[in-house]
Amino acid sequence: MKVGVLISGRGSNLRSLIAATKEPGFPAEIVIVISNRPDAPGLDVARAAGIPTEVVNHKDYPTREAFDAELDAALRRAGVELICSAGFMRILSDGFVESWRDRQLNIHPSLLPAFKGLRVHERVIETGCRITGCTVHFVRAAMDEGPIVAQVAVPVLEGDTPEVLADRVLEAEHKLYPLALKLVASGRARVVNERVEIDGPRGEAQAPLFVPPVA
Ligand code: GRF
Repeated sequence: MKVGVLISGRGSNLRSLIAATKEPGFPAEIVIVISNRPDAPGLDVARAAGIPTEVVNHKDYPTREAFDAELDAALRRAGVELICSAGFMRILSDGFVESWRDRQLNIHPSLLPAFKGLRVHERVIETGCRITGCTVHFVRAAMDEGPIVAQVAVPVLEGDTPEVLADRVLEAEHKLYPLALKLVASGRARVVNERVEIDGPRGEAQAPLFVPPVA
């Protein structure tokens, strides 16, 4: 399955997806990495791996729809069959989301449906949650909503700052996204009545349920 990755920044999830897709027998390959920001460090991650990159700068387009139309055209030119958003910080129009329905994944650093949106780790700590995590889900028009493919739970520890917690969750993200992509690209995970059904043994889908606290 041909995958296009959308990024806006650092690209650490992109890096983990690149590593996974280069494993022999992985059911997906990344054919293009597109950033809406020309200075996204993740573009260098893609270039270093020999993956074609493109910049579709939202500042060059008068409307969200015009930006989305160019993004869509770039993905189709590259033959993309499945989009993985990985730290892509633009809200996509309903038309774009609908035309990629069940063919776009996103990763979010919380156990959805809790803590949608921004400043996730600050809010998790402020709330006093003992457990947080990350989620890979199919994209729907509403932000951080959509059928859940896989999740990892991560403990919140005494004294965590948002930065320390973000790092712990990020480590889990890097395991989760390749796993979720594998499930979807291999056809084992499918959306049925707005929930994800997984064929075959569920062990793998539930594998890294808990990342042990760092000593
Ligand atoms: C990750 O925490 C991801 O969950 C969120 O944005 C961050 C992107 O980090 N959507 P990176 O660019 O993949 O390093």
